[in-house]
Amino acid sequence: MNFSKLALVVLFSSLFFGVYANTREGLARTVYHLKKWEFTRDSLNSKQVHWKMVNIPHDWAIEGPFDRKWDLQVVAIKENNERKATEKSGRSGALPWIGEGHYKTRVKVLGLAKTKAFLCFDGAMAEATVYVNGIKAGYWPYGYNAFRLDVTELLKEGENEIAVNLYNMENSSRWYPGAGLYRPVKLVIMGASHLDPWATSIRTKSIDNETAVIDYETKVCNPQPGMTCTVNILDKQGNIVAHCSANANANAIFHESMIVKNPLLWSPESPYLYKVHTKLIKESASSSTVIDEITTNFGIRTISVDSTGFKLNGKVRKIKGVCLHHDLGPLGAAVNKAALIRQVRLMKDMGCDAIRTAHNMPSEMQVEVCDSMGMMLMAESFDMWIRKKCKNGYCRFFVEWAEKDLTNEILHFRNNPSIVMWSIGNEIPEQIDSVRGPLWVNKLQGLCHRLDPTRPVTQGINHRENAVKSGVAQIMDVIGLNYCTSKYSTIYNMTPQKFILGAETTSALSSRGVYKLPYKINNKHWYDDGQCSSYDTECASWSNLPEKDFENMDDLPWTIGQFVWTGIDYLGEPTPYDEYWPSRSSYFGICDLAGLPKDRYYLYRSLWQKDSHTLHILPHWTWGKGMIGKNIPVQVYSDYDEAELFVNGKSQGRIKKHSERNSMAGTSEGWDSYNLDRYRLRWMNTIYEPGELKVVAYDNDGNTVMTKTIHTAGEPAKLSLSADRSTIAADGNDLSYITVSMTDKDGNLCPNADDEIEVIVTGDGYFKAICNGDATSLESFTEPHMKLFHGMLVITVQSSEKQGKMKVMVRSKNQKIQNSITIRVKS
Ligand code: GAL
Repeated sequence: MNFSKLALVVLFSSLFFGVYANTREGLARTVYHLKKWEFTRDSLNSKQVHWKMVNIPHDWAIEGPFDRKWDLQVVAIKENNERKATEKSGRSGALPWIGEGHYKTRVKVLGLAKTKAFLCFDGAMAEATVYVNGIKAGYWPYGYNAFRLDVTELLKEGENEIAVNLYNMENSSRWYPGAGLYRPVKLVIMGASHLDPWATSIRTKSIDNETAVIDYETKVCNPQPGMTCTVNILDKQGNIVAHCSANANANAIFHESMIVKNPLLWSPESPYLYKVHTKLIKESASSSTVIDEITTNFGIRTISVDSTGFKLNGKVRKIKGVCLHHDLGPLGAAVNKAALIRQVRLMKDMGCDAIRTAHNMPSEMQVEVCDSMGMMLMAESFDMWIRKKCKNGYCRFFVEWAEKDLTNEILHFRNNPSIVMWSIGNEIPEQIDSVRGPLWVNKLQGLCHRLDPTRPVTQGINHRENAVKSGVAQIMDVIGLNYCTSKYSTIYNMTPQKFILGAETTSALSSRGVYKLPYKINNKHWYDDGQCSSYDTECASWSNLPEKDFENMDDLPWTIGQFVWTGIDYLGEPTPYDEYWPSRSSYFGICDLAGLPKDRYYLYRSLWQKDSHTLHILPHWTWGKGMIGKNIPVQVYSDYDEAELFVNGKSQGRIKKHSERNSMAGTSEGWDSYNLDRYRLRWMNTIYEPGELKVVAYDNDGNTVMTKTIHTAGEPAKLSLSADRSTIAADGNDLSYITVSMTDKDGNLCPNADDEIEVIVTGDGYFKAICNGDATSLESFTEPHMKLFHGMLVITVQSSEKQGKMKVMVRSKNQKIQNSITIRVKS
């Protein structure tokens, strides 16, 4: 085959579709990133179908409008111990994701003779049926998984039409799933003989005495005589640090051990990545031609887990993790690299080192971001097996598709260093079924082991003793418990593994900036405004405040870490307001839906972040005249154990965290077992007077080491703007997040400001989204105006493909205050 001819495969576009970038992964393969599509939600049988142009990743539902009628579910949520069915209005986000959606695009390809072509979807929500030139190319039901379709026989020389029909059923999700081609799609054309990234496995076998042994395997598809495979491992500077080469033998498997001397190991603290560059070469007497090549990012690291703990590179560490749903708040489910980077940065700054992708396969983009930024991942696959958790959920597909789905997930991600564990399910009802439970664990866990012998497998168990009775808990590599803090020791004693992972913990509830008085530790709280208290004293009825999990992690040496529910608020599941309208997003987040830290963020930071200190004071100190002389408890979150509080210079006392475990902790779920004073500093009798609230932290020798002061705010006078990134890339996708805060003339946050803010973006970028973190707001995320929630909101702007500047102007309608910020757009 003339591969140089193949290299010239040319791509055009029809008048309507724009020119696709002809990116080339290797000399002999061409990758078409299919970004521009026509889209409709009309039925294709209707008389008139209205198509509009969209760029993918695209989430058709995020524009709204919010309405309780979308996916109104009349259900009893069994997992929440509900017995009676009631109407749940915002359970899946109150956005119009249900129903059909259709996409089509055209791609012109030439020089197809003797090639192989794959359409690769990183996920399509949901039940995708794909057509090429009007002929069905394939079907994939699970919306979260990557899949590839061999379209070699369906492509023709010249222009081709690719169409995707999607269908989202009502009652098929417990949260907002998003809708549409929300992850990238590409067409890959290769020679008939080629390499396959999914058939390539690169593992760190051992790290010993400054030497890493790398086990490399690939399969050459359709090998021909005279073909050779060469593999180079490259460091960041592009130096070859290991090399091997051999004939692509008759059974096409290429398997070698490679040695890297003085390897730089991958870890959250130092996420060093190597590149593994594989070439397929055809040698003849006179020439040597590269037929295909692939490059894989790879990290050298080992993982193991046993009764001595979870070990990364041989060192025990307790996982400080959070669960995250896949939506990106106001961007919906459509993946965006800048948004994912911001999430990881936010979590890392809190000291978090791991994310559980709850409860589904991650996007390729998320995994790559975690690889390069140093964030461990527990990649989960399913929220449901055969028994339903919602009427039309994945249970419809499980028996036929589960193994195919899991296979794709593992082949897709087994070379990514950030993934340290697979989870085959979350709160799966079959965990208590002594027949189907062990049967499916053996199938799924066995499949994980076969495709990837390096990573342990877990699942989130919530029926603890019953999952032991059924035999499920004992056969998991890792017993992952959801909640039930008081049962850790019981399950530990009943099972042979001798370690426990908090696969899902806490589920505390709060709304940023909201402080409910009187101060009360509470798990049954419904307020008229549909909010929860940021005193961090509220949680769901089945869950607990963070302290119980801190104690389990600190005091039980055999716990290997936890994944807190959740790092950031998500769309849907507005517990405890499932039946309250309007309420359409969660309250569980450590950060709100806009990504603004709630107070709880600093509680975790005070424990988890070892590189810098934390001193955070709550609540705000701007209360109405009616509150003067009344009791307003004050809390401080700090890694320092001792501090003194001052109101207008008057000491409220110097207090120290309790050092011992509460005797009840871990033995009872009752409020009496809480030992909040072990992790928080609390001045419960503070009396409010306007002015200054100051906290002084002391080190163990009694020296003053840090202070923090907040003030009663005056009248709203300024809109302060701060961008997470003031320069972004001119690639049409990059984002800057601009936090808008209403302050008084001295810069103190006005915590009660709720002005409507308008946004005007001019220059080389666009307004993308707006979000204030209020779970009860029905304002659109995609219109350039929204009310402040407790003085703040976040605007997302997107770059154009043109280098220059964009100006973001904000204006408060009520106060007639305005300000602007300039973001540079650079190529
Ligand atoms: C868990 C469940 C999560 C979420 C959470 C809320 O039981 O696994 O998906 O629903 O409860 O507390």
